[in-house]
Amino acid sequence: MSKKVTLIATAAMGLEAIVGNEVKALGYEDVQVENGRVVFSADVSAIPRANLWLRTADRVKLLVGKFKATSFDQLFEETKALPWEKYISEDGEFPVIGKSVKSKLYSVPDCQSIVKKAIVERLKKKHGVTSWLKETGAFYRVEVAIHKDEALLTIDTSGSGLHKRGYRVGQGEAPLKETMAAALVQVTNWDADKPFVDPFCGSGTIAIEAALIGQNIAPGFNREFASEGWDFIPQKAWDDAFEEAEEAANYDQPLNIVGSDIDPQLIDIAKKNAMEAGLGDLITWKQMQMSDLKPKEDNGYIVSNPPYGERMGEREEVENMYRDLGSIMRDHPSWSVYILTSHEGFEKLYGKPATKRRKLFNGFIKTDYYQYFGKQIKQKPKNNKGFNV
Ligand SMILES: C[S@@+](CC[C@H](N)C(=O)[O-])C[C@H]1O[C@@H](n2cnc3c(N)ncnc32)[C@H](O)[C@@H]1O
Repeated sequence: MSKKVTLIATAAMGLEAIVGNEVKALGYEDVQVENGRVVFSADVSAIPRANLWLRTADRVKLLVGKFKATSFDQLFEETKALPWEKYISEDGEFPVIGKSVKSKLYSVPDCQSIVKKAIVERLKKKHGVTSWLKETGAFYRVEVAIHKDEALLTIDTSGSGLHKRGYRVGQGEAPLKETMAAALVQVTNWDADKPFVDPFCGSGTIAIEAALIGQNIAPGFNREFASEGWDFIPQKAWDDAFEEAEEAANYDQPLNIVGSDIDPQLIDIAKKNAMEAGLGDLITWKQMQMSDLKPKEDNGYIVSNPPYGERMGEREEVENMYRDLGSIMRDHPSWSVYILTSHEGFEKLYGKPATKRRKLFNGFIKTDYYQYFGKQIKQKPKNNKGFNV
């Protein structure tokens, strides 16, 4: 299985370095972190592994080629020169999508049809087909992305976006994308032995992603990927990747994760989502308003995406909530608090400047991730009877 491929893990703005770290943690070395993507070269078995394991990437794309294109002729000839037959089977279905930014070739529909025509010609010749290509087989979504006259030709290996883990049976009004929720957890240094609370949990995304991380469960374990049907990836690569994920999962890891929300309907949805994620009742769900939060243990973590106060009439209530949160947490200095919000006055309302801030986009909303590092208290080691000595 030594076929080399170049893969592109696409990333939301602000998450590139986190995706890069995940790619490196999977053992890939030749990793370049760029705007909106992480590019790496690896053995073909990286396609199943990256799709199964990357928690914060949007998709994994296979790079077929990249070249300068300032005319349609050039786009056609360069596309036709690429080895499409290595990837797309004779009966493969391959729609072409496109985008163009700051480039001479700005008509996206024209670029799409030229690329389609060039691939058809190439495949007919290489597969020895004289009539039509049937396109009844496996699915390959080709993309032509032109940026400043450089064309990037890729095939999407993921299918639906990687945020679709397969567990979301219900959602509230403003659910966080699963990939973003995982990133929020990953930038903390929470480990599964510590308490974890999301007091504005909504449909439970952050708490569920924390539980998957805590038990080292591969986020893609319960879904399918477009490239599972591709001939050029040996079935063994998929079997090995799923087996590796099964072995790596630590279902015995106890977790102390609580998700609470003022809305009882959302708590029901969160419970159902956690069930669907295979987490059973590992997470404690509570209908509770944030002001009733009373951390009982030390060294815990709050990771949350509260309302931002952007809606009419909501601002004052939200600002009071931020003040309340600050005053509750002042009495728990060993806790670390991580809050994602677009409200620029957050630190003032919370009553303390953040230890660290990170700019992130929650969809199209510009947000900051306010991070307060707790002063951890040394805990006494437990004896083997399970109580403190
Ligand atoms: C932005 S949403 C969180 C979405 C969540 N991260 C998800 O993925 O579904 C904010 C949540 O805060 C909850 N909320 C609003 N006021 C609250 C309060 N005073 N106490 C607790 N929860 C509250 C809302 O019901 C809503 O579910």
